[in-house]
Amino acid sequence: MASSASTASGIEHPEGGSRRDFLLVATAAVAAVGAAACLVPLIDQMNPDASTLAAGGPVDLDVSKVAEGAQVVIYWRQRPIFVFHRGKTTLDALQSKSDLALLADPDSKQVQQAPYAANWHRSIKPEISVLVGICTHLGCIPLFYPDASATTPVPNWPGGYFCPCHGSKYDAAGRVFSGVPAPYNLPVPPYRFVNDTTIRVGENPSDSAWDFDSIRQL
Ligand code: FES
Repeated sequence: MASSASTASGIEHPEGGSRRDFLLVATAAVAAVGAAACLVPLIDQMNPDASTLAAGGPVDLDVSKVAEGAQVVIYWRQRPIFVFHRGKTTLDALQSKSDLALLADPDSKQVQQAPYAANWHRSIKPEISVLVGICTHLGCIPLFYPDASATTPVPNWPGGYFCPCHGSKYDAAGRVFSGVPAPYNLPVPPYRFVNDTTIRVGENPSDSAWDFDSIRQL
């Protein structure tokens, strides 16, 4: 029988090791897979100066440079942040009753996001999704499948994020499907729009004092 281990967050993981242990072992190998599978255009805003990264300070991204249907990955507090420009078809799928019935937490009741992102699109603007790209099971980096086919990588899945480590599936808002190892939706980091087209990851909107450390599981 598989053993369980408690993590720093208090969540039990029936995989014979803690999530933190797994992160340490798997990050290097899986990050390479994830990075290769994600389309990561070279955008200047993805590369804040070294002192900003070292301090874990806010990171800006001009989302007008992210084409519809594309995703870029930036780093905040040394974590990958997925920024996905969703089109109408994707947004419509997020509201599909048949798809919603397959999700573990379709209404984002678990605190995996600030109140300003606890809506059907889990974001400030519906078309721009901002997620922490770390699987809530054992910490792999999920792969981006904006247009999953009927059979790839798994059958009967509308696309979004797929974690190859143990098969967890998330939709295009980072909402986890029922019956997979991952227990929670992908986290949404604090962020705000500093103008019409630029997001700042690491800061809440001016009317919010949400504490990212209150998140259920990273
Ligand atoms: S780490 Fe296990 S499914 Fe993602």
